[in-house]
Amino acid sequence: ESLKRLIEQAPKTELHLHIEGSLEPELMFALARRNDIDLPYDSEEDARAAYQFDDLQGFLDLYYQGMSVLQTEQDFYDLTLAYLERIHADNVVHTEVMFDPQAHLERGVPFEAVLNGIERALEDGQRDWGISYKLIMSFLRHLSEESAFETLTAAEPYLERIYAVGLDSGEQGHPPEKFARVFERCRELGLKLTAHAGEEGPPDYVRQALEVIGVDRIDHGNRALEDEDVVRMLAQRNMTLTVCPLSNLKLNVIPEMSQHPMLAMLNAGLKATVNSDDPAYFGGYVNDNYRALIDHLPVSSEQLHRLLVNGFEGAWMDDAERKKHL
Ligand code: ADE
Ligand code: ZN
Repeated sequence: ESLKRLIEQAPKTELHLHIEGSLEPELMFALARRNDIDLPYDSEEDARAAYQFDDLQGFLDLYYQGMSVLQTEQDFYDLTLAYLERIHADNVVHTEVMFDPQAHLERGVPFEAVLNGIERALEDGQRDWGISYKLIMSFLRHLSEESAFETLTAAEPYLERIYAVGLDSGEQGHPPEKFARVFERCRELGLKLTAHAGEEGPPDYVRQALEVIGVDRIDHGNRALEDEDVVRMLAQRNMTLTVCPLSNLKLNVIPEMSQHPMLAMLNAGLKATVNSDDPAYFGGYVNDNYRALIDHLPVSSEQLHRLLVNGFEGAWMDDAERKKHL
């Protein structure tokens, strides 16, 4: 009601967004036709109906399959522009966009096509809608350390256009420490560091992200709440958590939205933010994620304000830019 109106009108950030996860069925079908690719769905409705997941891996299987329609620079441009148009309607004024180069390189799509397409749309979005941005290149943790190093080598000519690196894909069995050396090299190259941790993986993976990798941010972080030492570490470092409520529900990280730990995170002094993760698959963009919290948790206007401010404080934007919005 009035809280929802406040959220809809407020300028917002998005700090956890996989651009490939913003591929709506309509565009997926259009690109499949354009590139002459067969999809395992009869229709857009059929695709949507298939988006019911038992867990992270169940989602990832459809996510990697869906992105097979992304072949050319123009495809990545169209994908990213559609996302920006959608978040502009939500009053998102700053977005930090993650992409998965390994998922495209292994299909023969050149790094440059991916980067140029995404970045050209982000430039157009900045010019036309005033949306500022950063780009985050994410390593797939189910692949090897060697593959991550190869990806970094492929990215090396373009690193001044990439602000940070991340770590995503199947978490269980692929702890942050598996990538300690790649991340160390990335830090030496001047990149910011983030990692998915504590989405499905144990609190110790969050600890590793902090202490072994030395991340600047944690993506998700839900399961940190199971370990008070890890909570203390996160609070002491004022570490931003990029939390994704609808994603957590769809991937069975929580049994129902009323069980979401967002308020517990705030009450523990953690710098939680609201984000959409893979909006085309999880049923909503940033405002939908805020609305889900308002509908199912006893969230106060102070807490909503805190979440909005956390989004700007946790963003990788310069202070002059941040001040415009706070
Ligand atoms: N890749 C895309 N979305 C992801 C998520 N929520 N967790 C891990 N890997 C992902
Ligand atoms: Zn994610």
